[in-house]
Amino acid sequence: MQQTIVKSLLGACGALVAAGSLGAAKVNVYPARHYEGDAALYDAFTKETGIKVNRKEGKPEELLQLIVAQGNASPADVLVTVDAGNLWRAEAAGVVQPVASPILSARIPAQFRDPSNNWFGIAYRVRLIAVALDQADKLNVKSYDDLAAPRFKGMVCARQSSNIYNLSLLGARIGADGAAKAQAWAAAVAGNFARQPQGGDTDQLLAVASGECKVAIANHYYLVRLQNSKKPEEQAAAAKIKAVLPDQDGRGVHANISGAAMLKSAPNKAEAQKFLEFLVSDTAQAYFANGNYEFPVVASVARPQVLTNLGEFKTDTINVRVYGENQAEAQKLFDKAGWR
Ligand SMILES: [Fe+2]
Repeated sequence: MQQTIVKSLLGACGALVAAGSLGAAKVNVYPARHYEGDAALYDAFTKETGIKVNRKEGKPEELLQLIVAQGNASPADVLVTVDAGNLWRAEAAGVVQPVASPILSARIPAQFRDPSNNWFGIAYRVRLIAVALDQADKLNVKSYDDLAAPRFKGMVCARQSSNIYNLSLLGARIGADGAAKAQAWAAAVAGNFARQPQGGDTDQLLAVASGECKVAIANHYYLVRLQNSKKPEEQAAAAKIKAVLPDQDGRGVHANISGAAMLKSAPNKAEAQKFLEFLVSDTAQAYFANGNYEFPVVASVARPQVLTNLGEFKTDTINVRVYGENQAEAQKLFDKAGWR
């Protein structure tokens, strides 16, 4: 008990001390996933549990570096980040600890959490193929494999291979098809590029809309954001794009997660577990769907219309942990394939 108090006092040092009153129940959350309206989500948790939430926001790699640098003295209880690849990096860095929670196990499908409970998916996203609407019938894209076909020469836009979303995509293909096939696919897609890989997912979509390329790969919420943008020019760009959720006759569309993990040095373990469990509550799940257009991991939570507009689909059911395990190899294969 005494040790817990000392630890929590140590944990409250630095910037976080101003935000939290000593002694009151609290949880220190490091979110790399921050969106408009996040405050409402954290407030809902505090209202429900009486536990105050202190936040330290940053980019995924910055937060991980910070937590590693803080070591055992880190005040961080929970890391919230995007992409299974980033959660796996945190695990590989030795800074997370497993959480045995019947709530998390019951509510999150097995494919979207680490089998050893080191981290958990709290929402999921799919990597769709954006096709120029005026070419969609002619191009007839149905699969990621199509992007490797000779008929797509000079038509494909993509992000750089070092991007975690692409590393996870190829990591999944390594897991399903083996390294040789994964590399051959990457090389053939790279051979079809309309331009050198550049920009983020939104830039790929805008390049399809402008006609610079005919097809591109992007996470679904970037397209939904454009579709629901207040800017007329972004809405107009979205209207020129057909969303294809590929491989519906095969493995299903590649799915990835936003997720969370309890840090190994968490000073507020009980509160951290409650927070993790809150993230898969109906309240939080609806928030992820409405606030960031991500799919709830909890199947019973209704999807808003902006998401049902994408239609019914199946996802690849490979466990997302595979993306992390294959991350280093994926980068090697991309490099060999000439996808810079
Ligand atoms: Fe993203």
